[in-house]
Amino acid sequence: MECVHGKQRTEIDRAALDRCMAAHPYRWIDLGTGDGRYVQHLAAALPRWLVIGVDACREPLRERSRRGPPNAIFAIANALALPPELDGLAHRVSVNFPWGSLLVGLIEGDGRLLDGLGRVSRPQALLDVHLNGGAFAELGLDAEQGAARVSAVLTTAGWRCAAPAPLGARQLRSLASTWAHRLAHGPRPWAITVRAVRLESGTAAVRP
Ligand SMILES: C[S@@+](CC[C@H](N)C(=O)[O-])C[C@H]1O[C@@H](n2cnc3c(N)ncnc32)[C@H](O)[C@@H]1O
Repeated sequence: MECVHGKQRTEIDRAALDRCMAAHPYRWIDLGTGDGRYVQHLAAALPRWLVIGVDACREPLRERSRRGPPNAIFAIANALALPPELDGLAHRVSVNFPWGSLLVGLIEGDGRLLDGLGRVSRPQALLDVHLNGGAFAELGLDAEQGAARVSAVLTTAGWRCAAPAPLGARQLRSLASTWAHRLAHGPRPWAITVRAVRLESGTAAVRP
């Protein structure tokens, strides 16, 4: 899979990932990672974890990928076509404040996204999706409706979801994500979280 390290583009294959995993028994994948701040924070705080940020855009990752801890990897990929190198890796997955096709895929149950999410996750993997009410508004939904849709989609795709939980300004400030901080200091410091666990026999691909 294509990775970025500062201005350098690198390829990391499964054999190289396996070598990284020998030193880091737990793996966390952050989809739509943006500028990589969350990954950088997790990797520094959790040295036994290999933390992999994935985003379709390379440019915002240049700075943090250059100075990320060695257990942080930044992959350039579309979340709707996740690289097979990531299959079966993740004990945890996060999606923080998605927009664009990542958000639409979660709301509409895009089979490409759900299939990839299922592929990369281990049984019992924990998934946290933090959703920004403003992004839903652009799609004509309020945050509660949007979170309910995301929960329903994930449930159909083999995840067991807890009831969506609101995130206030204090919780947003405590999240090491650039968008969490933007929201926390904006006019409407509010978001909603869907937390889910991957079922052992999860069936993905709701719609092709
Ligand atoms: C609002 S930003 C959030 C960034 C980061 N998670 C944070 O909390 O600061 C949404 C991110 O989702 C990424 N994104 C949207 N659709 C995507 C897709 N299909 N595949 C990969 N990344 C995607 C965008 O490139 C952008 O970086």
